[in-house]
Amino acid sequence: MAARGNFSSRIGFIAAAAGSAVGLGNIWGFPYEAGAGGGAIFVLVYLFFCFALCFPVMLTELAIGRKSGRNAVGAFEALGHKKWNFIGKLGVLSGVLILSFYNVIAGWAFGYTFEMAAGNFEVTEHFRAYTTNIFAVGSYGLLFMIATAYIVSKGVSEGIEKAAKVLMPSLIIMMFSLIIYSLFLPNAMAGIKFFLLPDFSKLTSTVVFNAMGQAFFSLSLGMGTFITYGSYIKKNDNLIGSAALITLTDVGIAITAGLMIFPLIGFISGGSLSGVGRGPELIFVTLPHIFGEIGPTAGAIVGMVFFLLLCFAALTSTVSLLEVPVSYVVDEFKLSRKKAAWLMSGIVYLIGIPSLMGNGYSSYFSEFITYIGADQPTDFLSFIVNIANDSFLPLGGALMVFFAVHIWKKENMEAEIAVGFENYENSWVRKYLRFVMPVLLPGTLFIIFSMIVLSTFFGF
Ligand code: PHE
Repeated sequence: MAARGNFSSRIGFIAAAAGSAVGLGNIWGFPYEAGAGGGAIFVLVYLFFCFALCFPVMLTELAIGRKSGRNAVGAFEALGHKKWNFIGKLGVLSGVLILSFYNVIAGWAFGYTFEMAAGNFEVTEHFRAYTTNIFAVGSYGLLFMIATAYIVSKGVSEGIEKAAKVLMPSLIIMMFSLIIYSLFLPNAMAGIKFFLLPDFSKLTSTVVFNAMGQAFFSLSLGMGTFITYGSYIKKNDNLIGSAALITLTDVGIAITAGLMIFPLIGFISGGSLSGVGRGPELIFVTLPHIFGEIGPTAGAIVGMVFFLLLCFAALTSTVSLLEVPVSYVVDEFKLSRKKAAWLMSGIVYLIGIPSLMGNGYSSYFSEFITYIGADQPTDFLSFIVNIANDSFLPLGGALMVFFAVHIWKKENMEAEIAVGFENYENSWVRKYLRFVMPVLLPGTLFIIFSMIVLSTFFGF
């Protein structure tokens, strides 16, 4: 078997894993989902899902990965259950699909960094025109994919770990500077209140589903990211501690992103919070407009820093998305890492072209499909989001937990978790896992998966 590589230190692994988790999902997705989902109530449900449901899934993936020492597909075979490797194949497919559109959005963010630096705030009035210019945004996307492939081609410790160790601290410094800035704007507090004081009357089933999907995506779960990264860590690492640290970092950065963005919304709306676009366009339309209001020079600096940090966050995530299929081909098809990285990234880039064209350039891909019971067509990018993020990830998570407890057997999984964790026998984590893992967790994930599919595609 070709040399697989390893993380050189625990902190390097944590940086890379947290880097995978922290991404567009936290800084682009979370604030707009929270904005659309009633603010603080969404945040509350999201926090509950992250810790109660997602944390055990992350632990499961890490345990499978470390024990097997293989990629997301090969891991099932290494544990003696080759028949179940369809779960890993579903994961590789999810990774490829997610990266294909994720890279398009990262390309927009990359392009916006230059627009902001040039003080070109009007780009906001013409977001559609911007995304329609596919040669420009396609080139930014291509550069982003090349950066991703380059890091992955360098290997686990020399590429992924090194990049994360630089990108993650820079990201955090940029975020904190922006928060301090935005908190001092007039009406910042109105935004903070909306974000932090829950209004329970806004709790609906949509809020619950979206919070669940958001938690899964944001923590990079359900597609084998952590099986793959787990296969590169040392035997004596404490998996529970690592999973807790990754979850806390991810949630912490999402909340931080909210604290950075909602004061800006309070500012621009004069404290009323109304009339401000809070959908996916929040970051690409509303924010640059706000940067423009701040003033030409200050706005250019704040805007540039903001989009640069978005790119940094996205890059450590695209790296992990590419690593899942790359690790698979390297282990199972004996391809060199270099070849695998460039080959897979090229394929993924091509698969992403319809997503690139579906934002105004091509009317076919912009109005790609009309789901049963829907009155509006869905564009190609959103279609892939609905399939890969919303459906495959919770399904993958449900299957992995089911596999770990009932096929691999919970004694084996527990034995793996106990390595590196002294007092596992008497810990509350063990009690909690024993309580949720057999039925409650896979069952809940499966039900949520089914309801998402029924409501998204079939209009229930
Ligand atoms: N967690 C990343 C984000 O929040 C996205 C991601 C999903 C990365 C799945 C890897 C696997 O942006």
